[in-house]
Amino acid sequence: MELTTQFSHQLSQFTGSSKNLRLFWKGRGALYALLKSVGVGPGDDVILPAYTCVVVPNAILYTGAIPIYVDVNPDTFCCNADDLQAAITPKTKAIICQNTYGLSWDVDKIAALGKKYGIVTIEDCTHGFGGTYQGQPNGSFCDASFFSSQWNKPFSTGLGGYLQLNREALVVGIDEMTVDLPSYKQQLELACQLAVKRWLLNDRTYWLLRKIYRVLSRFNIVTGSSQGDELTSVTMAPHFLQSMGPVQIKEGMRALKSFPKLHANRRVHALQIHACLKEMKKTTVPDSVLSDHGFLLYPVRTSDRAAFFAEAEKSKIRIIDWFTSPLHPVQGDLSAWKFDRTQYPNAAYLAEVTCGIPVHDDIQKVIDFLRRIGNFLI
Ligand SMILES: Cc1ncc(COP(=O)(O)O)c(C=O)c1O
Repeated sequence: MELTTQFSHQLSQFTGSSKNLRLFWKGRGALYALLKSVGVGPGDDVILPAYTCVVVPNAILYTGAIPIYVDVNPDTFCCNADDLQAAITPKTKAIICQNTYGLSWDVDKIAALGKKYGIVTIEDCTHGFGGTYQGQPNGSFCDASFFSSQWNKPFSTGLGGYLQLNREALVVGIDEMTVDLPSYKQQLELACQLAVKRWLLNDRTYWLLRKIYRVLSRFNIVTGSSQGDELTSVTMAPHFLQSMGPVQIKEGMRALKSFPKLHANRRVHALQIHACLKEMKKTTVPDSVLSDHGFLLYPVRTSDRAAFFAEAEKSKIRIIDWFTSPLHPVQGDLSAWKFDRTQYPNAAYLAEVTCGIPVHDDIQKVIDFLRRIGNFLI
């Protein structure tokens, strides 16, 4: 069986039918391809959460459409369906909802909005692979969904992502697009990074390797998750739209074998963190959101993030510093992305106070740490 078909089949055991999956070099490319294939372009609006990764509005802006942000519910980190509905106008072509940190909210209602208004609904499942919402796999409610298998995601191919198309008509649209494979150079670079991760990354080297990787990718010396210009302008980066290459597929096939155990462990650990925070009377993810989600991390709130991070580094706890801006990871002025922080107070607040607690590390060490630095938690 061809490698792509084999991997799609393996993926479909977690997300649905393998016939409707299309593999990409990165998740953002998958989103862009989808938007283009449904005809999103100049004059259209696309609604999305105001607490996301900047590459999401980038993909919208690359089509010529306008991103229309909707503030998130501070408890769930996701948008309420009512708020999304209030943002719909005759110009709205698509709505994107997101499983932030693996948590999802109102997805059934959002899918229903799409049907009511004739709008394409898209689930950003980049954090949510393997989780479920109301007993259904993430990515199966909306017209389409996109996933990421980048370094820190539920399973990793280094860089990578895929589209799941839940309507037959969307499959036809995507298959009419020409998408090239990554070059040999790109694949070789990625293979080297995967080897460094496999052989050199451990608890002792993590902090140093992370710093080196971030500097090298900022200067485009290694193929990073984001290439320099993507974070400073709304101009499409070279090699933006490419399909997944064999290096990624082989890595993905390996990673998926250990995924079920990893996923179950993450949930157990997240529930332990939840219980600990409840006991400490600190803000937790609401019980109503806990039921059947996957956890990429457990989000906590801190009154002093710098001190919290410093303590974590001393204790060798790999705290996750994503979304310290409503459009992660761009700090400062967001006007190039048509984003005004004052309009989205919940997203701005979450970006100020949220830290990600790892759910894959030694859980007792994590719990001891949380108890010790409890005074920094809100
Ligand atoms: C919420 C969200 N959406 C989309 C993406 C894009 O995924 P990728 O890095 O595979 O392009 C990310 C990446 O981290 C993300 O956090």
